[in-house]
Amino acid sequence: MCRYFKAQITGNSFLNSHFKLLSITASPEIIIPKPGQFYMLQVGNSYDPLLKRPFSIYSHEDNVLKFLYRIRGKGTLSLSQLKAGDVIRVIGPIGNSYPGPEGDFIAVAGGIGIASLFPLLERYKNRAYLFYGARNRDELVMLDEAGAVSKEIFIATDDGSNGRKGLLTEMVEEFLDSYKDNNELPVYTCGPAPMMRELSRIIEGRGIKCYASLEEHMACGVGACLGCIVKTASGQKRVCKEGPVFDIEEIVW
Ligand code: FES
Repeated sequence: MCRYFKAQITGNSFLNSHFKLLSITASPEIIIPKPGQFYMLQVGNSYDPLLKRPFSIYSHEDNVLKFLYRIRGKGTLSLSQLKAGDVIRVIGPIGNSYPGPEGDFIAVAGGIGIASLFPLLERYKNRAYLFYGARNRDELVMLDEAGAVSKEIFIATDDGSNGRKGLLTEMVEEFLDSYKDNNELPVYTCGPAPMMRELSRIIEGRGIKCYASLEEHMACGVGACLGCIVKTASGQKRVCKEGPVFDIEEIVW
């Protein structure tokens, strides 16, 4: 169930030159979002319905919803210019959510994918082996916050400016190879498609359950435009309606 509502921006601050944290307040009440769900947010001071973009919920408390985003493209640039006091139209929470883990679990976040996984880390505190990778240390946003709610954190960057230099998925593979009980843990992932495709290859044949959140381009966000189709083993599915979380083995990469 999702709903349409208006919300007031209460904060839209820079975390560094590329990333911002948006806070909005809705009244009188919101539907409590589940980890992995997302919202369609109006990203400009116009009523053009095309000016909505999908954003994973990063955190919520009472009626305050927070979204972590990277400024990339016209939509997020426009969103970055909105100020406290501006009112935007919102749809959400939308989509399915990550199934809750029974015990410890593995989370694999590529770049801004941390925004989708953070609520899961927070809800199941100190139970995640978090693998977090980005191009460089500036793009490891909310690293301290994510580390504080994880059991253990493994970091990789393309340029080696923080953690291991190289692919995050290599670290995941080593972790799984190092101890057979690690293969009992479910995996949750969100990030660039090549990273998740490689993860899918790594877990193949190990009998590991892996849930991937896809970040397709979306126009309507409510299942009407078919603009977010993904191929799966059981046919075409809409990321906004049947997702965004899929069993990784279902996805045809
Ligand atoms: Fe329109 Fe998914 S975004 S159907």
